[in-house]
Amino acid sequence: MHHTKKILVTLMLLAASLELAVGAPKATAPATVSLRIPSEPPAGHLIIDANYQSYSIEFSYMADYAGNKSQPNKFSYQLLKNLEDISGALPIIRAGGTTSNRVTYYPNQTEGVILTYYHGTWEDQPDVVSIGPKWHESFQQFPSGTKYIYNLNFYDGEEGLKQTVLEASASWKALGESVYAFEIGNEVNGWAGTSCRPTNWTLQKPRFQGCAFTAPRDLTVSREAWNVANAVREGMATGGHLRSVADHDYMGANTAPLPTLKDNLLNHFHMTSLFRYHEALGNQSKALGVDYVIGETNSISKQGTANVSDVFGAALWSVDYILYSAGTNYGPLEALVSRMYFHMGTPYRYSAWQPITVNNTAPYAKPLYYGNIFISKVLAGGNKQVINLLNSTSLTAYRIYASSSSKYTLESVAIINSQEFNRTTLADKREYTAFKLLKLDRNYDWDTAKVRRLTAPGVDSKEEITFAGQYVDMAGRIVETERVERVSGSEVLVGAGEGVLVTL
Ligand SMILES: *[C@@H]1O[C@H](CO)[C@@H](O)[C@H](O)[C@H]1NC(C)=O
Ligand SMILES: *[C@@H]1O[C@H](CO)[C@@H](O)[C@H](O)[C@H]1NC(C)=O
Ligand SMILES: *[C@@H]1O[C@H](CO)[C@@H](O)[C@H](O)[C@H]1NC(C)=O
Ligand SMILES: *[C@@H]1O[C@H](CO)[C@@H](O)[C@H](O)[C@H]1NC(C)=O
Ligand SMILES: *[C@@H]1O[C@H](CO)[C@@H](O)[C@H](O)[C@H]1NC(C)=O
Ligand SMILES: *[C@@H]1O[C@H](CO)[C@@H](O)[C@H](O)[C@H]1NC(C)=O
Ligand SMILES: *[C@@H]1O[C@H](CO)[C@@H](O)[C@H](O)[C@H]1NC(C)=O
Ligand SMILES: *[C@@H]1O[C@H](CO)[C@@H](O)[C@H](O)[C@H]1NC(C)=O
Repeated sequence: MHHTKKILVTLMLLAASLELAVGAPKATAPATVSLRIPSEPPAGHLIIDANYQSYSIEFSYMADYAGNKSQPNKFSYQLLKNLEDISGALPIIRAGGTTSNRVTYYPNQTEGVILTYYHGTWEDQPDVVSIGPKWHESFQQFPSGTKYIYNLNFYDGEEGLKQTVLEASASWKALGESVYAFEIGNEVNGWAGTSCRPTNWTLQKPRFQGCAFTAPRDLTVSREAWNVANAVREGMATGGHLRSVADHDYMGANTAPLPTLKDNLLNHFHMTSLFRYHEALGNQSKALGVDYVIGETNSISKQGTANVSDVFGAALWSVDYILYSAGTNYGPLEALVSRMYFHMGTPYRYSAWQPITVNNTAPYAKPLYYGNIFISKVLAGGNKQVINLLNSTSLTAYRIYASSSSKYTLESVAIINSQEFNRTTLADKREYTAFKLLKLDRNYDWDTAKVRRLTAPGVDSKEEITFAGQYVDMAGRIVETERVERVSGSEVLVGAGEGVLVTL
């Protein structure tokens, strides 16, 4: 349980906090929210990996992201290395998505990949994807030790099956131990009555080995309802090769009426309303002995919405979404979501970074990546337990414990203030909330804690985003001296449209 209390502090107190706070000057007295923080996590709370936040790269764009043997992509390499340097683990890379379904492998093709667009270049996705043996070079350019989920194609009939086996065996030979898992088809639950499958395609027809489903919206336990738990009940795990089941999710779709930053991303309860499906199916899958992951996700489906998915508000949303997801793991028997894979593609609005030059714009880290840096810092060293501390529309907080051989250490508190603050508003109009960190049992000294701030001129910013005063340069390096603030009087101020990480 958490208890929140809002009190308006006096002007005298404001003067004190003004003096000690490093942020911009405050126009009005901040509201105070008290966070009562126990020294121990709840018994049995699941321990998560340092790479809980991993990536999914649109299959057709793997060569853009990774490059190949003659031209490795140094920018992507650096961005992945940054996260490894911070967290101690490399993200797992799923190469998959819609374009996987229509990939054809030609053993005699000399180019690694040929993309054909029917509607002109720089539409979001190619219509035809042909790969040859050199395609696999792209899976050898990311930092050494990177593991891949390889999403195989999905055509119909005997010929279709042959193509899938051909692609699978070629990639298995080339990638070897770096294959973490294969996925057969992308969002295969949506294919009945299409060019790929007849209308009578049901959960009983295929004997799945593993596959990815769309966002789950049907929790019915039945032989007819397409969801991953029912697929496991129908025998998907038979054979002992099932690594995990994957559902996808987004906070809305890039179709009219267009989603907005405020309603779709900066409203915590919009996210939690979608999350209940993952809680239910994660729980059911675990009870069936299978790990459940959110295998492809990001802000808004159909590659994101301009000025929603590609702005700083999306980074704040991602931090809240990932920590909330990590926090729903109630224990080894109710491990709900084991990992999350953030999707991206070269021209996509929601990508964490643009990997190559597009429209004369050189590769750059997009706002979402700054949220990824924040999460890597939270999960640094791995073996973390994350527990929700404050659950409200636009103010959320999480407590994080480091766990080693049944010893738990309270390590940090992450606070997200997702109130909308636009960059066109004067900085001194930004409203701050004071979070009072209360010792509940043991005598933690919050006043020696370090505060790292994730901030930008506004939630609609595409530039000037920093985490602890640092930013990502054109070579992909995190630069500038790290700026660490202090807690004062057990309080930390968090402005509208900011996040902070307070580390003991
Ligand atoms: C490659 O093989 C396909 C059949 O799999 C054939 O249609 C095509 O002509 C071949 N291409 C070349 C360049 O040999
Ligand atoms: C390697 O990547 C470069 C740059 O994208 C491309 O021009 C070249 O054709 C690729 N090589 C192969 C064998 O596909
Ligand atoms: C399913 O549909 C296919 C093609 O339409 C047909 O060949 C097959 O007999 C049907 N199977 C069943 C069990 O109805
Ligand atoms: C998970 O399932 C168990 C047993 O069915 C149930 O008691 C528990 O409440 C469920 N937890 C969640 C979070 O759904
Ligand atoms: C996104 O916002 C910028 C700055 O406000 C504006 O110039 C641009 O037209 C917007 N783009 C779209 C697609 O709405
Ligand atoms: C590149 O420019 C085209 C034409 O203006 C536009 O449609 C497309 O969205 C741009 N792509 C990116 C990734 O900026
Ligand atoms: C947060 O609040 C939502 C809406 O009331 C609720 O569904 C959810 O279970 C809460 N989550 C936690 C971790 O308390
Ligand atoms: C921020 O900008 C958006 C888009 O222009 C607008 O809808 C919203 O009302 C603004 N919010 C605030 C708090 O100024």
